[in-house]
Amino acid sequence: MNNPNIYKDRREKLMQSMGKGVAILKGAPQQTRTNDTEYPYRQDSDFFYLTGYVEPGAACIIDPNNQDQPFTLFVLPQDPKKEVWTGWRLSFEETVQQYGADQALDITEFNNSALKAMTQASNVYTNLNHDREHQHKMLDQLRQVRGAVQRSGGGPEGLQSIGSIVHNMRLIKDEHEIAIIQKAVDISHEAHVKAMQVCIPGLHEYQLQAVMESHFVFEGASGPAYTSIVASGDNATVLHYIKNDAVIKDGDLILIDAAAEYEMYAADITRTFPANGKFSEPQKALYSVILKAQKAVIAAAKPGVTFQELHDLDLRLLVEGMVEIGLLEGTPDEIIETASYQDYFMHKTGHWMGLDVHDMGMYMLDGKSRVLEPGMVFTVEPGIYVNSNSDAPERYRGIGIRIEDDILITENGNKNFTEAVPKEISEIEALMGKAKS
Ligand code: GLY
Ligand code: MN
Ligand code: MN
Repeated sequence: MNNPNIYKDRREKLMQSMGKGVAILKGAPQQTRTNDTEYPYRQDSDFFYLTGYVEPGAACIIDPNNQDQPFTLFVLPQDPKKEVWTGWRLSFEETVQQYGADQALDITEFNNSALKAMTQASNVYTNLNHDREHQHKMLDQLRQVRGAVQRSGGGPEGLQSIGSIVHNMRLIKDEHEIAIIQKAVDISHEAHVKAMQVCIPGLHEYQLQAVMESHFVFEGASGPAYTSIVASGDNATVLHYIKNDAVIKDGDLILIDAAAEYEMYAADITRTFPANGKFSEPQKALYSVILKAQKAVIAAAKPGVTFQELHDLDLRLLVEGMVEIGLLEGTPDEIIETASYQDYFMHKTGHWMGLDVHDMGMYMLDGKSRVLEPGMVFTVEPGIYVNSNSDAPERYRGIGIRIEDDILITENGNKNFTEAVPKEISEIEALMGKAKS
């Protein structure tokens, strides 16, 4: 468990924003995999951000109207018979101590306490995520509380997403978060290098996945931050290819989009390299277009620039490059105007990254693209995907390339978390050549 003060500071910030509102939050539910077997447990990101609590079966109330005990954690009580199967549970006293709670109560007391807290609140904030049962309960209770309002006056008007406050907070990463993200990146970096080193034609894609994911876990990550994409040849033109079951062929490029989750934080890295260690001329041409755009976008990322400006720059450079190498015909202006580039580039340049790989936070404010600020973390991931059925020049068919780095906006510009992950053609060829000699 990290320093509980980190989470306390966040709750205090939240309380300032809520005024007389109350946050009533449920931890993520456990998900059944088959019969009586469950998926590995992963806490809800907002819940974790505010509490640091990672165990299943929890809930919390953060209530500025309760001045003596603003933070109550509700947890599974100790139960020796159950603990034999699923592991030790902290006592309520230990929970209070470790998580800096004002009190810890049995989860069975959650609904009653929530009802009580609601009656005194001007507004109720809760997590509007995948836990429908919790949301229905909140609505039922709100209806109950509202029933008394006609005579008592006041009372909460409705339910609001906790995200309306917390996602804005999560968008700006602090030192503690930045250090964890760097660790997630470092582990992922080593795994990408390993994949390049062991790759030879004839392996299955899943064998590279295994090398990488075993490295994640070996180094203390909880596993992949998202389902790993290991896509060779034409498979790399499917954006979310996750089958990873094809045999890697000589002459293929391999696109690997895989990264670790470390202490709840994601990295998100894509590298594309030749199965046999040498880029062909058409592969080089396409790769160079993407690399040039990617580097230019990273160089332009600094406070004051908007997210949309980065995308516009990326798009223009990709389109100019595609015209130059004969993949697209026409002028860049026409191609952008008619969006005909979408045959080959069909996603955005990047996304926020943090506790969720596609992290929370608005990309637009008041109808305008968000201006970058120090502490924001996002990916820059241009790509070009030419599937084998396309009517592109034959030399480019069956090639998918993406290059993805993770960027932190700093006071004066940015820091590239993934700077050291090889992406120059010469670097990749040298690394792979050395591994094979
Ligand atoms: N790995 C998912 C993405 O790049 O957005
Ligand atoms: Mn990404
Ligand atoms: Mn990715």
